Amino acid sequence: MPGDIFPWLLLLSLFGTTHGCLQDTATAYKFTGTVCRLTHPAAVVLNEKTTKVIEAAFQHARYPTMQGERSAGFFGKVSYGLENLEIFNLSIGRSEFELRPGEGIGLEINNVSAVFSGTLQYGYGNWLVNVGQKLDFEVETQIDLGINPKLYCGNSKVAADTSDCYLTFHKFRLYLQGDKEPNWLKKAFTDFITFTVKLVVKGQICKEINKMADILADFVQDTAADFVSDGGISVDIGITTAPVITANYIESYHKGVTNYLNQTSVINNSVFHPNLLTENRMLYFWVSDEFFNPLVAAAHQDGRFQLNISSEELQMLFKTNLSSIKPEYIEKCMLESASPELRMWSSSVPALNTSTVGTSVRAQATGELYCGNQDKPTLFFQTNITVDVTASYADKKLFLQGKPREIFVVRAELPQQNQPIYEKAQIEFIREAVEKIGIPKVTSVLEVEVTRLLDKQGTNLFDIINPEVLHQEGYVVIQMDFGFPHHLLVDFLKRTLQ
Ligand SMILES: *[C@@H]1O[C@H](CO)[C@@H](O)[C@H](O)[C@H]1NC(C)=O
Ligand SMILES: *[C@@H]1O[C@H](CO)[C@@H](O)[C@H](O)[C@H]1NC(C)=O
Ligand SMILES: *[C@@H]1O[C@H](CO)[C@@H](O)[C@H](O)[C@H]1NC(C)=O
Ligand SMILES: *[C@@H]1O[C@H](CO)[C@@H](O)[C@H](O)[C@H]1NC(C)=O
Ligand SMILES: *[C@@H]1O[C@H](CO)[C@@H](O)[C@H](O)[C@H]1NC(C)=O
Ligand SMILES: *[C@@H]1O[C@H](CO)[C@@H](O)[C@H](O)[C@H]1NC(C)=O
Ligand SMILES: *[C@@H]1O[C@H](CO)[C@@H](O)[C@H](O)[C@H]1NC(C)=O
Ligand SMILES: *[C@@H]1O[C@H](CO)[C@@H](O)[C@H](O)[C@H]1NC(C)=O
Repeated sequence: MPGDIFPWLLLLSLFGTTHGCLQDTATAYKFTGTVCRLTHPAAVVLNEKTTKVIEAAFQHARYPTMQGERSAGFFGKVSYGLENLEIFNLSIGRSEFELRPGEGIGLEINNVSAVFSGTLQYGYGNWLVNVGQKLDFEVETQIDLGINPKLYCGNSKVAADTSDCYLTFHKFRLYLQGDKEPNWLKKAFTDFITFTVKLVVKGQICKEINKMADILADFVQDTAADFVSDGGISVDIGITTAPVITANYIESYHKGVTNYLNQTSVINNSVFHPNLLTENRMLYFWVSDEFFNPLVAAAHQDGRFQLNISSEELQMLFKTNLSSIKPEYIEKCMLESASPELRMWSSSVPALNTSTVGTSVRAQATGELYCGNQDKPTLFFQTNITVDVTASYADKKLFLQGKPREIFVVRAELPQQNQPIYEKAQIEFIREAVEKIGIPKVTSVLEVEVTRLLDKQGTNLFDIINPEVLHQEGYVVIQMDFGFPHHLLVDFLKRTLQ
């Protein structure tokens, strides 16, 4: 069955036309097979968890040892080192965000209060020669934190530049402990400790936030790429241009091209335009037929569309109430054969065409019925089928519905007698069996398969709420709201930060 020409895929290696990120967004749409839109209401839900992420950043940050020397007036030069800086009693007030059109995201985290403790070592003269005293200190702080991430295209992925990160200290109260010479010390070191702690905290916190932003961005994109990749088939979801931020949404544009056996599909005339999506749901995925078709073609080429049904299951299926009369050889096969087997496979590249009534799938299906003799089938048939498939999702489960539009029996024969079937009633039986037994069975197998893919990926990182699949001319829109259960985020942060 494989070995057909592979019309959807062109040899990329021959033409060598990879598109990196394009400057012009409107041009990039043409090369975009799938789009993800996250709206303001979604950002509100995510922002509720910002404080948890920031908390993890503070707690996970490691503060390096700092040393230096300074003049302490009457005492001459004093050298010092600041070490074992740790954070206690962290509490984070609230966080606010703003989508800044064409610019980025503004995040403000107010009222972070924390106690830092550490040890100060100091001595007179050179640090290396003379380490004199040790002194523990504590600093009570109240901090406002601002981060203005900018999204850009880095290595064909969405990347976040979080270098615009600042900390404002509203309170900075220093306590020295066990100090024998508190007055002059406090004087000499207050400025230094203040300056150093602020510098170290700012540097490390901003660094940690940057790292977490990278981890999160990679995680989301790798998960998405894995989801649509299986075995030798993979989908490149690298971005075609930098993400766009408006007052109401953040949108990213992905290639969505299929890689299979050194071949890469081409999308260069996509119909995507931002006004194909609304803004009232939290999350949207726009997926074009040009995304699906090469994927389905690769699955066909890879021999994925095969189905064998045997024994009791087959006998059960043939008990389905059909209006046409069962030919005698079928009755005999089901009753007399110990292990009848039906083998079916796609014998042409399936073609998808989405319109408002659903996604119509046109394919040629070939089948063989074996009734004991494993070398020669009792029945052979070839049908051209067009089915309208609609998808829905409820109770964390995907439902596919296949409504036959056309079933045409191209060929049927009884190979054991070497005899073609022409009789109308017998042809009609095959047609009806394909419609009422074959298509529902294949649909339910696909349903299980896609559900398995959904489960394999950590799609339960958030709760999907009321998802809808909309079928339009040449594309589908999957739109949903979501909730972000607290424990899932905490688990995720623990795992990624080890
Ligand atoms: C943290 O808070 C607790 C209770 O408020 C207090 O007993 C403890 O001393 C604080 N720790 C530090 C290091 O300030
Ligand atoms: C910060 O916290 C203090 C006391 O905990 C409170 O009085 C103040 O209103 C808070 N400020 C903001 C901006 O949340
Ligand atoms: C892919 O291309 C490489 C180099 O052109 C070749 O060595 C390899 O055999 C090809 N693999 C397949 C599966 O066609
Ligand atoms: C789109 O790609 C196809 C196949 O590579 C090519 O024949 C066609 O010229 C391309 N069209 C444009 C507008 O680039
Ligand atoms: C169906 O049966 C044929 C013949 O035994 C076998 O080659 C094929 O791999 C089977 N397909 C599946 C999906 O089990
Ligand atoms: C079988 O189908 C026929 C006609 O489609 C109908 O009259 C009959 O009631 C059905 N029988 C069962 C058991 O469903
Ligand atoms: C897809 O379906 C629409 C409506 O049914 C039809 O107008 C269009 O020609 C079809 N496109 C392809 C490529 O089959
Ligand atoms: C059946 O489908 C095949 C492959 O799509 C096509 O080549 C053939 O012309 C079709 N035959 C009929 C009778 O529609």
